[in-house]
Amino acid sequence: MTEQDFAVPLEAPRYYEPDPSYRERSWIGDYRAAYQKYLEDPGEFWRTRAAEIEWFEPFDRIMDWDFPYAKWFLSGKLNITHNCLDRHVRDGRANKVAVFWRGEEGEEKVYTYSQLLRAVCRFANALKKIGVRKGDRVCIYMPVVPEQIVAMLACARIGAVHSVVFGGFGVGALNQRIRDSGSKVVVTADVSMRRGKAIQLKSIVEEAVVNAPSVEAVVVLRRDRPKVELHSEMELDFDELMENEPAVCEPEVMDAEDPLFLLYTSGTTGTPKGIIHTCGGYAVGTQYTTKYVLDLKEDDVYWCTADPGWITGHSYVVYGPLLNGSTVFVTETTPDYPDPGIWWKIIQNYGITVFYTAPTAIRMFMRVGEQWSDRYDLSSLRILASVGEPLNPEAFEWFYRHIGKDRCPIVDTWWQTETGMHMITTMVGEPMRPGFAGRPIPGVVVDVVDRDGNPVEPGNGGYLVLLEPWPAMLRTVYKNDERYRKYWTTINRVYTATDLAVKGHDGNIMVIGRADDLIIVAGHNIGTAEVESALVSHDAVAEAAVIGIPDPVKGNQIKAFVILIEGHAGSDRLKADLRYHVRMTVGPIAMPSEIEFVDSLPKTRSGKIMRRVLRAKELGMDLGDVSTLED
Ligand code: PRX
Repeated sequence: MTEQDFAVPLEAPRYYEPDPSYRERSWIGDYRAAYQKYLEDPGEFWRTRAAEIEWFEPFDRIMDWDFPYAKWFLSGKLNITHNCLDRHVRDGRANKVAVFWRGEEGEEKVYTYSQLLRAVCRFANALKKIGVRKGDRVCIYMPVVPEQIVAMLACARIGAVHSVVFGGFGVGALNQRIRDSGSKVVVTADVSMRRGKAIQLKSIVEEAVVNAPSVEAVVVLRRDRPKVELHSEMELDFDELMENEPAVCEPEVMDAEDPLFLLYTSGTTGTPKGIIHTCGGYAVGTQYTTKYVLDLKEDDVYWCTADPGWITGHSYVVYGPLLNGSTVFVTETTPDYPDPGIWWKIIQNYGITVFYTAPTAIRMFMRVGEQWSDRYDLSSLRILASVGEPLNPEAFEWFYRHIGKDRCPIVDTWWQTETGMHMITTMVGEPMRPGFAGRPIPGVVVDVVDRDGNPVEPGNGGYLVLLEPWPAMLRTVYKNDERYRKYWTTINRVYTATDLAVKGHDGNIMVIGRADDLIIVAGHNIGTAEVESALVSHDAVAEAAVIGIPDPVKGNQIKAFVILIEGHAGSDRLKADLRYHVRMTVGPIAMPSEIEFVDSLPKTRSGKIMRRVLRAKELGMDLGDVSTLED
């Protein structure tokens, strides 16, 4: 995408005004006043936020900035699980539900705060027993089950660095992530459930740990009956391992700047980036935003539909809500199984009050029609939220009317794996402008600039940048500090999000999309290079180029252009074979929906594929500047 790819909206802005009671009862109160207060004294602002969590030892400085490296809450000591669990159990939430889980067939599991704490301690002790120490990496490759959350928190309890890999990734992607992180243990399950079918996760892990010499043990949650066999000595049973462990495990005392987790996100090269988040800043950032942006209150029953395998799941299924002592609903359920009414049935039956989902899901529901949501009582809902890609005005309006019943504010949150926490939104109680994510939250300073870093005039497009460090920011890219520095050096010493945006005359920001070779498909970031390298690893493929083309539901879909090796003929069968190959290598989310066999690809003189040209041709657009085009 380039700056010219979008039209600046010219029509007079239309706002949706929430009922004044929302602002009166919100944690944020008056957004403008809160933002002003931050600007007047940023240090004091973050000191107050940091005081909302408990520290074993107080920090002695708020922040050190040594461009482009920030350290937050220096010398402060804490453990995020003490803040997520112990303090709530101590302070009267012991019997409050922490996690409601629902499986695809309606089966349920419930964990109160005290039960969750005990489970986490048991698994933490089990990890210790098999040799996991502070600083070791543990890969978690699981379906959305409560044990996934237990495993994450158990790592954090003992200071091990978790690297959660989304359960929809294939062998190649998993192997790459295990190897890059040097994970000592992999925690998995035998199967994950999808639309009534069991997907064999364990067999994917078996293949992915070949060639991954760092792995000493694979812990398997056995859900299926009869239980799958554990093959090698390396494989251990999740439940048995926990069973005999004590339900008490003292939290490791972590420095604010110790790593908490790493999470891989797709990059523009074939290698994903291991984004590093740290204990102190991440805890403060997610506690703050969950409370003030999602506006969670003591009695809320909160549902975020993200998988904990992505950053949204880390920050707003697991850490943020638990830091706030909230009740979280999680489910393995897909939105259309057994029918497209299932999510609305869940909202009715569990009395969900705050509902956080993605535009791709909203558009899917729009397409099947409101007759599905109309069957259920959605009156428990108080706040709606969205993340992952632009929430287009049509989807905003449908969500507002048919789910929120013209009553619930929609909080469209813009942020990234790298930012760790919300950055831009329309705070609860503020007027909402469809198509625009909103304004920076207090604590965040943003702008829209040209390539040289000069602010663009309101109404014009440019690059979205962040001007000040924030506590939950990534600290580096694992084993690739140069890549980290690039975030801050591409444009004039500010953080470049690599998103294109327009700043409206009213100060609201509209996020348009990526400015690089990432494609967002159904809210998931896919690197073109990752798919291309999967394609060329197939015997029949000489070269491949991948582009995103617009899709009314998924936002984008993937189209691949493939040059075959001499002697191979393009056929439908080969197309199916290539799609399967990508599915197995990268995962189902990266499968091209269309494949075209071609004889050549447009390249620059230096041999770089010009995806922009392929895309323009595909969509019948102006080719733009092609002076560097060789072929
Ligand atoms: O392009 C933006 C888009 O998703 C990218 C970040 O993807 P990821 O790191 O996978 O994190 C997704 C969940 C935070 C951004 O660079 N994006 C995310 N939220 C929005 C968005 N685009 C527009 N509006 C949003 N609310």
